[in-house]
Amino acid sequence: MYKAVITGVGGYVPDYILTNEELSTIVDTNDEWIVTRTGIKERRILKEGATSTLASKAIEELLLKTNTKPEEVDLLIVATVTGDMRVPSTANIIQEKLNLVNAWGFDYQAGCSGFLFGIEIVQRFVESGRYKKCILVGADMMSSITNYKDRNTCILFGDAAAAIMIEPQENSEYGIIDTQNYCNSFGGAIENLNVKRHGSAYPLNAVTELLDEHYVYQDGKKVFVKAVKGMADVVEEVMLRNKLSKDNLAWLVPHQANKRIIDAARDRAGLTEDKVMLNIQKYGNTTNATIPLCLWEYEKQLKKGDNLMLCAFGAGYTWGAAYVKWAY
Ligand code: UT7
Repeated sequence: MYKAVITGVGGYVPDYILTNEELSTIVDTNDEWIVTRTGIKERRILKEGATSTLASKAIEELLLKTNTKPEEVDLLIVATVTGDMRVPSTANIIQEKLNLVNAWGFDYQAGCSGFLFGIEIVQRFVESGRYKKCILVGADMMSSITNYKDRNTCILFGDAAAAIMIEPQENSEYGIIDTQNYCNSFGGAIENLNVKRHGSAYPLNAVTELLDEHYVYQDGKKVFVKAVKGMADVVEEVMLRNKLSKDNLAWLVPHQANKRIIDAARDRAGLTEDKVMLNIQKYGNTTNATIPLCLWEYEKQLKKGDNLMLCAFGAGYTWGAAYVKWAY
């Protein structure tokens, strides 16, 4: 039986740093409010290019680090809410840019839980044994859908991408061990967090052009309450099912939307701060990139056999957790 094993990580963040100080010259906000409410100090912004630019750079690094030739890749899955175009998929654009001539692939989205959902998607593909070198990339150019006149949202988001290589290994004790994902709108959540424009229900016309519906809208407070409970509950569920405790869990790898939401999940898992991957202070919420970007930054601290709990919460609502045993 094959296990889906993570064998490498690559990442990319653009050079431009948008600080809280600079944001406070654009909207009515300040560093103290942003840091206290979210934990964010700064975020990265891509000045030229698109989501495929971010993703391609992360994958280039991944190929180099894992000593993989472009033609060896047989599957490319792209988690994004900011694909370059509506059609074709960003996977096609990346495939062409990087010469992944033998890979087929596609995009999908599940809000900020996209990368986590992708862990289960790629797990099923790889466990089948049919695919040998699969790339899952989380990439978002959030600045392309952020309204820099809306202080409720523009302080939150940043641009980045990170990718993992997943390969089958026979009877391995390492890899993606267990996942639990959820989708539930609770009769109204769709109105609490969305980007409406360009969807078939919100076509562009003279009226909608005047609305700001091509930007992220969020009722932060409503989402916050659900995110705290959703993320903490699902982490507890997967920990219990796999007999994980604060003593044998090496790292919590949470989606980076708000430091306070991360703290709540950490508290419930009974973990100390040093066991939580955190980079929200530097990058803000990069949507599909947050979790692999954490793996990328903490890679040197990871040890073979470490138990990792990945978790996320996002628009929809969508949420979930994944138990991964690190393989290198
Ligand atoms: O990643 C996908 C899932 N998303 C999330 O998980 C995000 C969940 N939500 C959150 O992280 C938080 O709700 C936010 C960080 C978005 C907001 O924090 P909050 O503590 O819920 O603040 P709030 O929206 O309730 O606003 C509190 C006050 C309001 O003023 P009044 O009405 O109390 O006078 C806001 O107008 O803070 C005001 N405010 C700001 N003040 C300075 C809102 N944004 C800002 C700002 N700077 N940028």
